[in-house]
Amino acid sequence: MSLHTDHRSLLAVAFGGFLVLSLIIAVLPAYEVEKAPPGAGITQAEGAVARGRALYLKEGCAVCHTQFVRDLPVDAPYGRGSVAGDYALEDPPLLGTQRTGPDLANVGQRQPSETWNLIHLYNPRAVVPTSVMPSYPWYFEEKPEPTPADVVVPVPDGYKPAGVTVVATEEALDLVRYLQSLKQTELPQ
Ligand code: HEC
Repeated sequence: MSLHTDHRSLLAVAFGGFLVLSLIIAVLPAYEVEKAPPGAGITQAEGAVARGRALYLKEGCAVCHTQFVRDLPVDAPYGRGSVAGDYALEDPPLLGTQRTGPDLANVGQRQPSETWNLIHLYNPRAVVPTSVMPSYPWYFEEKPEPTPADVVVPVPDGYKPAGVTVVATEEALDLVRYLQSLKQTELPQ
């Protein structure tokens, strides 16, 4: 049998190598990670946070945002390196792949302000002039006169139609509750 002339054994070696490498590099580590228990302080998303999380999924925020801090100097501003236990109660985990925007794994610590988050969702340019993040105006109402029960969003003039007040919907508040809940827990030493 010669690998130079027998196409069957050539294929068998290549395919066998592929299977073994897949097992070692992908399947076995994934299996190990699946068994990771939730880290201390990791809780299941509930109520407003769970509803906000569903909106995050629906809007495809994960297309531009990871929730997966790599243990690298370049990721240090976004938090500590992520570990498997951080995701143990998440289905599906929202790791993301594209880092167009900042990593959000710890954004609840970095940017806890409800007002800032609401203005930013209504129009990111109103708080970060060079932002390329899309606006999500459908989570807000533009009212001539807000009622006392309304959550008024102080959008600066020039970033909203003249003469209206921007009011957050329940969904906008849910989404912000979710963002505020994104806090990394301390790892045991
Ligand atoms: C087209 C890519 C894109 C999409 C889609 C996107 N973002 Fe962003 N996002 C960015 C960029 C770029 C920034 C950094 C500039 C800024 O703050 O606006 C950012 C910043 C943020 C920040 C502030 C992070 C920080 O560290 O200060 C939050 C919070 C955020 N985005 C939430 C969301 C949510 C929630 C959604 C979905 C509703 C979303 N983003 C969708 C690109 C995106």
